[in-house]
Amino acid sequence: MQVDLNESWRIREVEIPTRLVLAPMAGVSVQAFRRQGRRFGAGLVCSEMVSVAGIQHRNERTLGYLRVASDEHPLAIQIFGSEPTAMAEAARMVEAAGADIVDINFGCPVKKVTKTGAGASLLDDPEHAARIVAAVAEATPLPVSVKMRRGTANGSRDCLVVGPRLVEAGAACLTLHPRSAKQMYTGFAEHSLTAELVERVEVPVIASGDVTSRARAQAVLATTGASAVMVGRAAQGNPWTLAEIMGIGSDPSREEVVAELLLFVRETVRELGEFRATGFLKKFYGWYLGRGRFPKPFKQELLTLPTIAEVETRLLAAAPGAVDVLERLQAEVPDVDEVLLDSLPISVYGGG
Ligand SMILES: Cc1cc2nc3c(=O)[nH]c(=O)nc-3n(C[C@H](O)[C@H](O)[C@H](O)COP(=O)(O)O)c2cc1C
Repeated sequence: MQVDLNESWRIREVEIPTRLVLAPMAGVSVQAFRRQGRRFGAGLVCSEMVSVAGIQHRNERTLGYLRVASDEHPLAIQIFGSEPTAMAEAARMVEAAGADIVDINFGCPVKKVTKTGAGASLLDDPEHAARIVAAVAEATPLPVSVKMRRGTANGSRDCLVVGPRLVEAGAACLTLHPRSAKQMYTGFAEHSLTAELVERVEVPVIASGDVTSRARAQAVLATTGASAVMVGRAAQGNPWTLAEIMGIGSDPSREEVVAELLLFVRETVRELGEFRATGFLKKFYGWYLGRGRFPKPFKQELLTLPTIAEVETRLLAAAPGAVDVLERLQAEVPDVDEVLLDSLPISVYGGG
């Protein structure tokens, strides 16, 4: 059965125009990444996981993750924490920031997070996890979604018990990445579990894990009955994967790659400031310019350049035609000033 990826679907009243979702990725899912994902066909994008403790303490960097641009919608903001009351308060901030969906992280396998009782460790305590979901669902009128792993231990099927319990508690959508927390990113995502989860709940399920092509997306949708597929690593420095999955893309030229990277660089500098962006962007150079698109020494050379201006000059020297592509892109993409960035109320920033 062919599944139409262009079909819209809903998470409660939020309409998602395509069945492709861009994954939340810490250290990756900045606004520039999310806006790019929407342009290339993702129907829903998600912020990286935002610490509830950071929100509570009004940590400036954390609050920066709550900045929403007007052309990102529909957008989920993901929060992580372990205290229902704090999670509820954070959900209200997420709502004030302008998100369409509050997503809760019950999937992060990283020790720094799980040792605080957050992330995937909540899969070992379904009742506490349900209390968190109930508190968040009560705190906000927005739909609440949960992203989870299959369980903490290898071979675990806990998601099939925890998932329905979370829906009972108020979750309006579940995303399953069917690897165990212990597995981190090894092995493969066992989507037969996704199919079982779909059978057990009445809410939409998003399938996450190892979706890297249109063929794979079609197969996962058809065999699991999931409402959408989520794409993460395959979209890093490669939005063309999203277009390929949507059936609208072809391999980019070198000029297109450089132009898209330059736009990403400029947007990220605006978002994070030049100092933070300089380090943040380094991994993206390899992601964009790899896949046989540019020779390895060129990527390495970019990493040695001390300023963003030098990176831009070097990129344009390698693909002079990118200037025209970039101009066209910038004409299509709303400019910074046209996009409402600071939708957060001033009180959220603690400013006067
Ligand atoms: C660098 C990186 C950061 C991630 N950060 C998050 C995160 O903040 N929240 C989350 O729910 N999942 C996170 N994930 C998991 C992804 O959302 C996704 O479920 C996983 O990568 C499997 O999908 P993929 O095979 O398409 O990459 C992260 C994954 C990667 C590779």
